[in-house]
Amino acid sequence: MPGFELFGDAERKEVTDVLESGVLMRYGFDSLRNGHYKAKQLELEINKRFNINYSQLCSSGTSAVTMALAASGIGSGDEVIIPSFTFVASFEAIIMIGAIPVVVDIDDTLTLDIESVEKAITSKTKAIMPVHMCGSMADMRTLKELSSKYSLLLIEDACQAIGGTYDGMPLGTIGDLGCFSFDFVKTITCGEGGVVVTNNKEFALKLDYFNDHGHDHIGNNRGAESHPFIGYNFRISELNAAVGLAQFRRIDEFLNIQKLNYTIIRDALQKIEDISFRKVPFGGVESYAFLNFFLDDIETAKQVHKSFLSNGIDSCFHYLDNNWHYIRKWDHLKQIKSLYPFSEDLINGLSYLKDKDFSKSDYFIGRNISCLIKLSWSEEEVRKRAKTMVRCIREVINS
Ligand SMILES: Cc1ncc(COP(=O)(O)O)c(C=O)c1O
Repeated sequence: MPGFELFGDAERKEVTDVLESGVLMRYGFDSLRNGHYKAKQLELEINKRFNINYSQLCSSGTSAVTMALAASGIGSGDEVIIPSFTFVASFEAIIMIGAIPVVVDIDDTLTLDIESVEKAITSKTKAIMPVHMCGSMADMRTLKELSSKYSLLLIEDACQAIGGTYDGMPLGTIGDLGCFSFDFVKTITCGEGGVVVTNNKEFALKLDYFNDHGHDHIGNNRGAESHPFIGYNFRISELNAAVGLAQFRRIDEFLNIQKLNYTIIRDALQKIEDISFRKVPFGGVESYAFLNFFLDDIETAKQVHKSFLSNGIDSCFHYLDNNWHYIRKWDHLKQIKSLYPFSEDLINGLSYLKDKDFSKSDYFIGRNISCLIKLSWSEEEVRKRAKTMVRCIREVINS
């Protein structure tokens, strides 16, 4: 991560195609497009690469999760289980459609703790949403078993994990629906964009309509199209899709660099006895977008993070004290600070958050350091960085 570090001629060429035709919208204007359908083309290439039947591009990863939930028929009063370590978008998407996010603990995979998931299932639960944070996954085999045992949908938020696999299947294609983000800091970026993938034809059709104000996209007269149900505008533009198309074609190039850089740093850190690495469930292969490791206790992790910063090691996060990806500091969610009134059901459904105990998650997040793996580093830079990281960690541990 992130793909923008390596923008080049391929991205420029795709964007130029669109600008020369002047058609920035994915639908219609057939006679003006010079044959360019960048969004459609990108969807076809995603299907092929991920061995999946359908994909629906959209304006962001947040839209992708919202659309996946809506296409599943999840709504008012329903509950969706998500992990405490995620991006706030998972929570936002669920409340956007009127459902209740049930936030549960994580474990040493830094994703859903299976025991906490099972305990949280009620008669209102409609879906489990694993979030493949920082390029790796939860125990998907057990989550699949749980979702079929309780007749729940499995919706994967793979926004941070493009390229990771589980039992040989791309993350995002294991559950009923999978969501990816192509925002500016993702491994594959198109500025702002996202995609939902599924093998379910009915879901795919609903995604297609819902994404574009409910239009059924039959015929070539937009004004004459029917609206089988209410939709919104979550469309991607052709300009964004053009960048995404060029980036997606480079996915192996990016993943190989990520893996190389990750491996150099991991090999160096591995020599330190007092650290352990995030657990990757059996059958899982990370996307190598981040390297995550644990120190013995929270204080040591804080000191290591501080030492990294003062020694020029950027892009490493200690999420316990960070407002970005962890429930602990999301007071706006706990206090339900909404611009507009929420339904009584939703307010009551969220009230558990005020005093829910996340000490199990704190135990893992508090000891974790999460280091972004960049694509633009030279090998010399990575080796130097790894050496500095080892020195910082040893100094803190031995102090
Ligand atoms: C796990 C996760 N889900 C959803 C999103 C939302 O994606 P976007 O920024 O494209 O809306 C992100 C973005 O960072 C994310 O990390």
